[in-house]
Amino acid sequence: MGQCRGFDWNPLAASRHSPLAGGELARRRSGKRPAGTMNPTFDADLTPHNTFGVAARAGCLAEIRETGDLEQALELADSRGMPLLLLGGGSNVLFAGDFPGMVLLMRNRGVEIDRESGRVRAAAGENWHELVKTCLDNGLHGLENLALIPGSAGAAPVQNIGAYGVELESFFIELELFDCDGGIRRAMGREECGFSYRDSALKQPRQRPRVVCSLTLQLQSDPAPNPRYPALAEELAESAATPREVFETVCRIRRRKLPDPAVLGNAGSFFKNPMISRGEFDRLRARGDPPPFHPAGEGVKIPAGWLLEQCGYKGFRQGAAGVFERHALILVNHGGASGGGLRQLALAMGDRVFAEFGIRLEPEVRIIGGDEPMRPRRES
Ligand code: EPU
Repeated sequence: MGQCRGFDWNPLAASRHSPLAGGELARRRSGKRPAGTMNPTFDADLTPHNTFGVAARAGCLAEIRETGDLEQALELADSRGMPLLLLGGGSNVLFAGDFPGMVLLMRNRGVEIDRESGRVRAAAGENWHELVKTCLDNGLHGLENLALIPGSAGAAPVQNIGAYGVELESFFIELELFDCDGGIRRAMGREECGFSYRDSALKQPRQRPRVVCSLTLQLQSDPAPNPRYPALAEELAESAATPREVFETVCRIRRRKLPDPAVLGNAGSFFKNPMISRGEFDRLRARGDPPPFHPAGEGVKIPAGWLLEQCGYKGFRQGAAGVFERHALILVNHGGASGGGLRQLALAMGDRVFAEFGIRLEPEVRIIGGDEPMRPRRES
């Protein structure tokens, strides 16, 4: 992939191994527009751009398909003193109020696959699940456990997406970044990304965001499925666990357990699973039924969903804001819920868990707007 290094988002270099051959490549190429033709929408509706489906407005919305669009959007935002907010699929964000600044919607497209080396490069605006499927169809393995995670490829490294025993960072090589602070375009490697559980250096809020333009991953040509996560292992028990089977099983489990945002607004797990010390875990165990747990470093990781279920939140409803009936970690919009209402519910849930167990829950979802910091109000 050496020749791809300077790849502008569109058009794609047609490599021998490109999955975008013939008509498909032509179709994607035809999407190229002259530089700097982003069409800003003022006072834009953000309802279709967040998977919670809550109503919110942006001062301005710009669709970014290529470098010129980004440069033009930044100029406009600067001239009006607008703060910037980057959005991919809008699947990990809660708009608790309007955003007065400029929303940059990453819509650049393109995937390059080198079957020989196993390297894959995807533009940030590609849909994550489609990318997982494309890799599998091209005989490159590893991402199967991350199937059906909503959102875009560019958002994947920001929160180091993970599911069923696999995290993105194991495949990560580098990303191409546009730093709005100074307008510099450069590569960012694994170390600088500082990945940890559902976190990376890119998640830290900044006045001028760093825009992920593309993502390069190293996958495996030899199938090396990872079916060890208990829920996955259970379902695959009798099967040979090929990468395709892992992919299909993960999709099946997710469809069964998690609400489809197209049907019921949600942003997946609302809180991170908390890490607690062994001492805290022993105290929790002494109270009665212990939660499931994973040893993690010096401490133990326990499911936030378990803590919330113990507090009676499974299926809880407060007007149109609620908690999924099959999973207490997932807040849902039953239709017409406000972002502020969902945020209030999340605050109350965090407070309740803290009061009951002395454990602080940290949101995984990014909350935009609202006037109080999103953390439990009481300290012990
Ligand atoms: N549990 C309950 N009650 C609930 C929900 C869960 O008791 O209402 C307990 C069950 O014992 C269950 C355990 O919690 O066995 C773990 O639940 P689950 O397997 O659903 O996983 P999770 O820890 O809730 C994490 C990720 C998910 C990912 C799954 C599978 C986080 C914050 N969430 O959820 O990621 O799909 O593991 O790997 O780490 C997401 O990030 O949006 C997301 C969906």
